[in-house]
Amino acid sequence: MKTLIAASATLVALSLPAFAEGDATKGEKEFNKCKACHMIASDSETIVKGGKTGPNLYGVIGRVAGSVEGFKYSDGLAAKAAEGMVWDEAELAAFVKNPNDYLGSKSKMTFKLAKGAEDVSAYLATFSQ
Ligand code: HEC
Repeated sequence: MKTLIAASATLVALSLPAFAEGDATKGEKEFNKCKACHMIASDSETIVKGGKTGPNLYGVIGRVAGSVEGFKYSDGLAAKAAEGMVWDEAELAAFVKNPNDYLGSKSKMTFKLAKGAEDVSAYLATFSQ
């Protein structure tokens, strides 16, 4: 796990020099606010138990937006999926700060994270290769 965090932090540093890097450890605490609606679960294990109002966020960084099979996304996120938009840490942070503004239409995610969105992005990135 530590190696994975270090590896992804390096990757972020290399690939996104202009983006204020988040702190994955802080993000893990921040994720408590997301759990009511989101789980983090791979095919083989549940990493964070959570609700099903929102899609599973395992591997979300690097994944096409709006692409969890069987989840009914808003029209706005479905449009992102159709464009093939892929979540990176900066995009995910922007979305979480204000989903409606980000999509330019009404998101099914009714939650806004005022502070710490970069940290949550960094935390979620630890579950992506
Ligand atoms: C009240 C429930 C709720 C909470 C709390 C919530 N979400 Fe969501 N989230 C949703 C729903 C519903 C969607 C689908 C949005 C849509 O279709 O417009 C979503 C979508 C997302 C997506 C897009 C996923 C994809 O497959 O493209 C991300 C990323 C996300 N949420 C991150 C977060 C994070 C990080 C937090 C905590 C800071 C959080 N959410 C808190 C309900 C929630």
